[in-house]
Formats: sequence, structure tokens, C-alpha cells
Amino acid sequence: MLKIAHRGAKGYEPENTLKAFQKALDLNADGIELDVHLSTDGHIIVMHDETIDKMTNGKGFVNAFSLSELKSFVIADQYEIPTLNEVFDLVDKKSFINIELKDAETVIAVTALIEKYISEKNWNYNHFIVSSFDWNALQEVYNLNKNIPLGVLTESAIDSALAFAEKVQARAIHPDYELLTPENTKQMQEKGFLVFPWTVNLKQDIQKIKSYNVDGIISDFPDKL
Ligand code: G3P
Ligand code: CA
Repeated sequence: MLKIAHRGAKGYEPENTLKAFQKALDLNADGIELDVHLSTDGHIIVMHDETIDKMTNGKGFVNAFSLSELKSFVIADQYEIPTLNEVFDLVDKKSFINIELKDAETVIAVTALIEKYISEKNWNYNHFIVSSFDWNALQEVYNLNKNIPLGVLTESAIDSALAFAEKVQARAIHPDYELLTPENTKQMQEKGFLVFPWTVNLKQDIQKIKSYNVDGIISDFPDKL
């Protein structure tokens, strides 16, 4: 069962920072989950919320700033907002990276960056999985490059996620863990999909979800898995 660090190891370091991603590597996470938006000048920015208000000393929408403007803000008084390139270079194939598209504007840039790391830096498709609650965005990734592994995120319906996963030949389904049962887990696996539930943090929930034989768990505490 794969251990996937949610927003880096969010339980230990400020989420979606290079510090959190390094912590995930130090904890031997198999995968690192992160969230992306696009800056006004086309850089892929790693941040969960659509604004910088919660995490930085600034205010405003991520996609209203250029990269240099975003780099002038700080997280927890010391950390920069990272770009996706910076995370790739830090991780350097030591784990796979689950890129969650928070905004369909990111589709073309994320697809191009994955292709660049594969063609120029000796990465392979298994180093990536692109997920989103926005299934239209996943469909666009599929239309651009059918080799990129996709993860279908759902917080409401396993059945429709399963149907869409078949349509785009997804690698995995990423359900809210509270939707899972032993039966629907098996159903997704029998159709050929990995099952990566989120965000499982409490000991009793981890034990229950592991007993369903899921393929991986996304957690703020990858070492507890
Ligand atoms: O990708 C799983 C999980 O991260 C989705 O929820 O809000 O933490 O991005 P959120
Ligand atoms: Ca996420």
C-alpha cells in the first residue's frame, strides 16, 4: 500500500512548501500530493487555495499575480511559494508526484512540464499522476496526452467517478475516504483502477481503510500509514 503525503507532509510542515515536500521524502513517502494554479505569466504555482490569504503575508488570487510578485510573499515568515518545477527538482524522482489541478487553466502548462521532464530529464510517466475534481480538466489532459496517468477525484459519487475513469482510461480513483466500503473498493479494483482515498489521518480511520485493501492512502502523516 502506497503512502502518499498530502500537500507534502502537511501534518508536520506548512503545506505545499519545499520544506513540507522534503519532510515527505525524509519520511519515505511513496508519493507526494500537491495543488496547482497558474500565475498571470504562465508559471505553475503550488498552492491549495485560490487565494494566498491563508498561507502568506499577502492577499489576493494566485492567478492575479506574476511569478515575481508571488515570490515576494512569504509563508510562515520564511518560505517562498514554490513553483511546480522547483518541486520536481527537489523530489528528483525519489517519489511520484500527484498533481491536483485546482484550475483548468493549468492543463496545458502541466502537461507540457510533465512532457519536458520525461523527454529532457529522464523521468517517466509513472513518476506522475494528475488528479482533479474538475473532470473536464482531466478530459483535456487525456486529449493532449493519453499516456499521462490520471486520478479521478470524487467527494460524492463512486459510480460516476468509475464511469468517467473508464472513459479517460484513468490510472486511479481518488475518493473521499468516507465514501469507501469494502465492496466499492473491490469493484473499482476489479475494473482495473487503483484506489487512493484522502485524507486519512486518524489511527482508527487508517486501520479501517487499510482493511479494505486500498492501493494507497493520501495522508497529512504519511509515516502513520
Ligand atoms: O487530492 C486529495 C485531496 O487533496 C483533495 O482535497 O482540498 O485537500 O485538495 P484538498
Ligand atoms: Ca489536494
